[in-house]
Amino acid sequence: MPLLIWNDEYNLGVSPIDEQHQGLLSLVNRLHEALAVGESRSHLGEIFEALKKYVQEHFHAEEELMHQSQFPGRQEHLQAHAGFCEKVDQLFLQFLHSASFLIGIELMRFLREWIEQHLQEADQAYILHLKAQQGAVSA
Ligand SMILES: [Fe+2]
Repeated sequence: MPLLIWNDEYNLGVSPIDEQHQGLLSLVNRLHEALAVGESRSHLGEIFEALKKYVQEHFHAEEELMHQSQFPGRQEHLQAHAGFCEKVDQLFLQFLHSASFLIGIELMRFLREWIEQHLQEADQAYILHLKAQQGAVSA
C-alpha cells in the first residue's frame, strides 16, 4: 500500500508542476516501500539521495515560477522549502545512526504530512497567483 496516493486535490492545473509532484510522490512511496521491506541502509540511502536531488530540482522550478510572477508570498514559501530540506536531512541522518526503526516511521510521517499540506495550501497559493496573472496578461 503506497504511503501517498495521488488525488484531485493535489492537482494544481499546471502541467510541469503536477508532473513533478507526481514524481515526488512516487519517490516517497519508493522510500516507504524500501523501509517497509527492510532494505539495507545503503539502498535506502540511494533512494533518499535520489529523492533529495528530485526535491531540490523541483523546488528550484517552483521558486523560478514564483520569482518570474513576483509572487508576494515567495519569501515565506522559500523558507518552507528550506525548512523541509533541513528537517528531512536531519531525520534521515538520525535514521542512519539509529538502531530503532521508529525514526523511519517518523521520517515517513513527516514526509507525508508536509507534502499533503504543502501541495494543498502553499503551492495552491502561488499557483492561484500565477493563474490570475496569466489571465490578466492574456485578457
Ligand atoms: Fe512548494
